[in-house]
Amino acid sequence: GFKVNTLLRDTGLVTLDPGFTNTASCESAITYIDGDQGILRYRGYPIDQVAEGATFLEVAALLIDGELPGTEALEALEKRVAEHAPLPGGFEAFLAALPAQAHPMATLAAAVNALAAWYPEVVDPRDPEQVDTATAMLLAKTSTITSALHRRRTGQALVAPDASQGFVADFLRRTFGSEGGEYAAEPAIVDALEKLLILHADHEQNCSTSTVRVVGSSNANLFASVAAGVNALSGPAHGGANEAVLVMLEKIRSGGETVETFMNKVKNKEDGVRLMGFGHRVYKAYDPRAAIVKKSADEVLEKLGAKDELLEIAQGLEQIALSDEYFVSRNLYPNVDFYTGLIYKAMGFEPAMFTPLFALGRMPGWIAQWREMVNDPSTKIGRPRQVYTGATERRFVPITQR
Ligand code: ACO
Repeated sequence: GFKVNTLLRDTGLVTLDPGFTNTASCESAITYIDGDQGILRYRGYPIDQVAEGATFLEVAALLIDGELPGTEALEALEKRVAEHAPLPGGFEAFLAALPAQAHPMATLAAAVNALAAWYPEVVDPRDPEQVDTATAMLLAKTSTITSALHRRRTGQALVAPDASQGFVADFLRRTFGSEGGEYAAEPAIVDALEKLLILHADHEQNCSTSTVRVVGSSNANLFASVAAGVNALSGPAHGGANEAVLVMLEKIRSGGETVETFMNKVKNKEDGVRLMGFGHRVYKAYDPRAAIVKKSADEVLEKLGAKDELLEIAQGLEQIALSDEYFVSRNLYPNVDFYTGLIYKAMGFEPAMFTPLFALGRMPGWIAQWREMVNDPSTKIGRPRQVYTGATERRFVPITQR
């Protein structure tokens, strides 16, 4: 440790690795990815088994605590999260002060950040009880805030949480139902959303998670760190891709373009156009999450009788990509976000809401990674080096002489 560090400093030896393509920033026992083989495991459990057999809060417990919860532990977590679902006094007015048509990721980041302003009594990273409370608050209130984002955009009043319903079912009821109304989400839709949230729950040191860790490494509180993660997620090269995919598919349809001509633009890199929802820094094989999402998209659209022309366009794009030299030679396959938007759309979400749904799903991963970092004695403040390329020393020129 110390000796090597001193040596590196003395020799001025640094590694230049833009985008950290080959630099590990930490050791982690949470999520395993083998990008060449398309393997993803949460705490050792293969993603397909977890997505098939668990609920979202069960996965949250697995990621955060390290083991699958027993019935009692899971019920305790469900109860705790349900208790924290309501927003504190004044919070709704705070949300209402932001423009109703603002991008919901901007509002979500502000809202998560604002939790530290409302709950200063739970912001000490070194106090495990405070961290546990902040954890339950984040899981619960992100769901409340996300449903509120949809209600505000569609000009509807918020619906109060109902602790007797499951996490995902109540999220859907608060999003699409009405106060005192009869709304009950179809079990197949609850299952599909549960699965999507699970598939997004963690993905080791991606852009937003690394952001959460770097911010947290300065001992910033959990809300502040996760709010930074929400912002990192918003970009179209990361979580924003799910919205960008739908915008792309709609543009192809409304422009009357064929999938072939669009793909030629992508291959010729015309105006930097990329096939959104394709490619991944780590996966050089089919993203195992995308395989599950694709199957789910077929089932949900069939179930809702929502035959979507956009699904055909997406399938057409994928079909070309799987046999085209450009995509094959670069190992470009659909990532988790290629088909998710079609499912969210069929459920009734507008495209701007897709990335907040990703954030809702990723919340357990951000929290688990932040907690692992805080408890890791080898954690140091995140502070990369640089290779300076600017001017060598020169003499300052007073403004009167410039
Ligand atoms: N469409 C067309 N070409 C692509 C795409 C794409 N989606 N992705 C990568 N390429 C090409 C690049 O142009 C580059 O080609 P070159 O060798 O001729 O220069 C090559 O493939 C390698 O691409 P990089 O950008 O170097 O790969 P990187 O690992 O840095 O980027 C990323 C990964 C950002 C995901 C990229 O594939 C991308 O922009 N995809 C589209 C956006 C997207 O779907 N993002 C979601 C990622 S998953 C997630 O966050 C949930």
